[in-house]
Amino acid sequence: MTGHQHDGGTDEGTAAQLWDERYSSRAKVWSGRPNPQLLVEASELPPGRALDLGCGEGADAIWLASRGWTVTALDVSAVALERAAAHARETGHAGRIEWVRQDLATWVPEPVYELVTAQFLHSTLMPWQQALQLAAAAVRTGGTLLVVGHHPEGLPPWGNHHPGNHHSIEKYFTAEEVARELGIEAPEWHVDVVESRRRSATGPDGEAAGLIDAVLRATRLAAR
Ligand SMILES: C[S@@+](CC[C@H](N)C(=O)[O-])C[C@H]1O[C@@H](n2cnc3c(N)ncnc32)[C@H](O)[C@@H]1O
Repeated sequence: MTGHQHDGGTDEGTAAQLWDERYSSRAKVWSGRPNPQLLVEASELPPGRALDLGCGEGADAIWLASRGWTVTALDVSAVALERAAAHARETGHAGRIEWVRQDLATWVPEPVYELVTAQFLHSTLMPWQQALQLAAAAVRTGGTLLVVGHHPEGLPPWGNHHPGNHHSIEKYFTAEEVARELGIEAPEWHVDVVESRRRSATGPDGEAAGLIDAVLRATRLAAR
């Protein structure tokens, strides 16, 4: 595991503290299965170098590795990353994944990835625009940006399980807002998908609900 912890934060704590606490509260927070929109959007892409920003317990990174991608999986939570690395070893795909502990607040992206995926990167103690701008900046020319998040009108009813609930910071977005605020448009980008997708999901205690995913997929046509 590489990277370092940034200790800046707020009176609610640093992102690392908040997320380590969240992950430590349960043996497993997420399902262990890759996110459905990743499967839909990335299954046809030729493998290369992928960056999973806010990788959590690692299911997406492991799925990408199983498809031949070389994956950098970044998260601020050491607890999540340890869990993710253990899961990867069990699946036999650990060799293709580098786990990086890093706070996005101090991370400087390099535009080297054929795929950058940010799935439900909602709690960064920074505006989502800033976090997702970093994701976009890491995509190399010809590469793909995939952003998936909870649409504000289709949030999980099982409560606020995303720590860092800063009232001044909006955490949720539509795909159209992402495209507009990040300037995902010609001539720098080709926008492949801007959609709100309904799906059913199961909550941490087995409760069923209908959610809406905001999905943006775009191809970088030119360097910024
Ligand atoms: C809602 S979870 C999503 C996890 C994973 N992408 C998934 O879909 O299962 C958000 C993730 O972003 C990470 N995260 C939040 N703020 C961060 C920051 N400032 N820097 C890096 N990672 C952060 C959290 O630790 C958490 O694992």
